[in-house]
Amino acid sequence: MLKKLAIGAAFALALAPVASHAAGGSGHVEDFQFSFEGPFGAYDQNQLQRGLQIYTEVCAACHGLKFVPLRTLADEGGPALPADQVRAYAAENFTVYDPELDEDVPAKPVDHFPANTAAGAPDLSLMAKARAGFHGPYGSGMNQLFKGIGGAEYIASLLDGYTGEEKEEAGTLFYENTAFPGGWISMAPPLSDEQVEFADGHDNTVHHMAQDVAAFLMWTAEPKMMARKQSGFVGVLILTVLSVLLYLTNKQLWAPHKGKKSA
Ligand code: HEC
Repeated sequence: MLKKLAIGAAFALALAPVASHAAGGSGHVEDFQFSFEGPFGAYDQNQLQRGLQIYTEVCAACHGLKFVPLRTLADEGGPALPADQVRAYAAENFTVYDPELDEDVPAKPVDHFPANTAAGAPDLSLMAKARAGFHGPYGSGMNQLFKGIGGAEYIASLLDGYTGEEKEEAGTLFYENTAFPGGWISMAPPLSDEQVEFADGHDNTVHHMAQDVAAFLMWTAEPKMMARKQSGFVGVLILTVLSVLLYLTNKQLWAPHKGKKSA
């Protein structure tokens, strides 16, 4: 008993500094309510389409999405654009280099979103997974089941977290940001109120656009989330039924022997 207690205490002591360090080192991340959270959450198609528009009109100037094939914009469970719109979107917005013609030609759905390294900005394809937070107590992952992995929250908090303060260090401008670890980021505030006009007149304050583009980047990082949740749920269901059947079988098998003992 004592030994067990001692081991438990040692464990708690060993883990405590890790947890407190993680909390102290990162900025403030707001817990936004996204439609894709929870065991039955799903992407909001309209929100993904707004996020795509924000990415295209604003973020694409500096950030690439090189791991995302343009054709996936038509996928069910994602932005689900009609195929002809995907073709038009690719051709209107991006060009790819064709080695045979030795020139840049309009992109097609088979191409990927281009990479963009001009501004020294990181590729955003997998950013929502790279910046996951919300692991739950001691990284148990319980929070992920109910609140999502936190990457979209981080991106939305980052875009919405500028204080307006600037400083210059070694010739580079830094902007104060409450979500960015360390508090100062070299990305100028990319969004301002009413910067992007949505066809349906949807709310275009920074607060809302930050969430829309964050949801879109969650989709680029995890396009199959819906399918994964569905098959996970079916799996749990089958295992539950199986457990009940095995329990009943077990009872049935042992019933004669147990009966004798108690008699
Ligand atoms: C003018 C260029 C520019 C534009 C436009 C821009 N960014 Fe950035 N972004 C940067 C640079 C540069 C960095 C690297 C900043 C750093 O590490 O200090 C960055 C970093 C980031 C990061 C990573 C932060 C981290 O934790 O490392 C995210 C997420 C991000 N940008 C999202 C966006 C989104 C979403 C948009 C569109 C709404 C956008 N950016 C528009 C230049 C830009």
